[in-house]
Amino acid sequence: VICIGLEGTAEKTGVGIVDSDGHILALQGRALLPEKGGIHPREAAQHHAENLVPLIKKSLNEANLSLEDLDMVAFARGPGLGPALRTVATAARSLALSLDVPIVGVNHCIGHIEIGRLTTGCQDPLTLYVSGGNTQVTAFDAGRYQIFGETLDIAIGNCLDQFARTVGLGHPGGPRVEELALASDNYLKLPYTVKGMDLSFSGLLTAAIRKYESGAALEDVCHSLQETAFAMLVEVTERALAHSKKSEVLLVGGVAANQRLREMLEVMAQEHYAEFFMPEMKYCGDNGAMNAWLGLLMYQNSKKMDICDTRVKQRFRTDQVDVPWREKSPL
Ligand code: ATP
Ligand code: FE2
Repeated sequence: VICIGLEGTAEKTGVGIVDSDGHILALQGRALLPEKGGIHPREAAQHHAENLVPLIKKSLNEANLSLEDLDMVAFARGPGLGPALRTVATAARSLALSLDVPIVGVNHCIGHIEIGRLTTGCQDPLTLYVSGGNTQVTAFDAGRYQIFGETLDIAIGNCLDQFARTVGLGHPGGPRVEELALASDNYLKLPYTVKGMDLSFSGLLTAAIRKYESGAALEDVCHSLQETAFAMLVEVTERALAHSKKSEVLLVGGVAANQRLREMLEVMAQEHYAEFFMPEMKYCGDNGAMNAWLGLLMYQNSKKMDICDTRVKQRFRTDQVDVPWREKSPL
């Protein structure tokens, strides 16, 4: 079975083609990079509308396939930006109807976990998913990917991006903050907010901006912002690891590009005799292959979806989805 997966929950348009043996036959994507300011949901939707068809064509070329070779269509129903989700869903439905093939709407966060398992070979990980729109710690338990901890306000990537934008570093902020942080080891005290197993980054963001505005060196603030935010992430991941008794830690999402975060997580995992995994960066950020692969898993193991089951869900939670493929096969 050959599945094409469409992705466009935020500002990246992605298309991937995967077969039921887990071979990734094509991976194409294009991110919207705003000149200034953040991402507007309608601009993201427009970006997807312009890029989906060219990226589908490129993917077919890359895989050496034609439209008729596609056996099914998958796309992410959420979570994400409403207009962006609706544009991609419309494209997926049109493609499935015109080819007369099945359609599967998937959960974006689970897509990250499953492409992580497929491409790294880890089996049953505790996952830290960190991106511009999401921050969550999940593990498989009792038939679902349960959320052990998550952000109560903004995502870690969004915190880094908003900080960078406010102090004039441009977008995306994560890589710029990381670069500047390398030039300092002077830690300035910033608020550390872990509530139970959940995280809050908005107070940290405001405090970091205030530190800079009251004259602290930008390198020092970048260093302190990273150390504080990443220590919070590692603390919650560590407690979830101890509680869930998993022996693998998987890091996914765009913020996984950060070397310092990786290093901190890896050390924590080692201390718990757990193995650390991270997909190649092209499978870490949003991509179409993750939805194609999860679509295949769902198609083969879940109730078939009808077009009317493919409504988008802006706040689609990871723990709302049954995960029968984990019970049945060790895929
Ligand atoms: P999602 O829809 O999953 O929330 P996204 O639209 O945020 O995804 P991703 O590519 O997964 O897209 O992640 C982008 C985020 O990753 C941005 O917030 C960016 O600042 C952050 N990022 C990228 N590189 C780094 C880095 N080196 N250090 C820290 N953060 C980084
Ligand atoms: Fe994502």
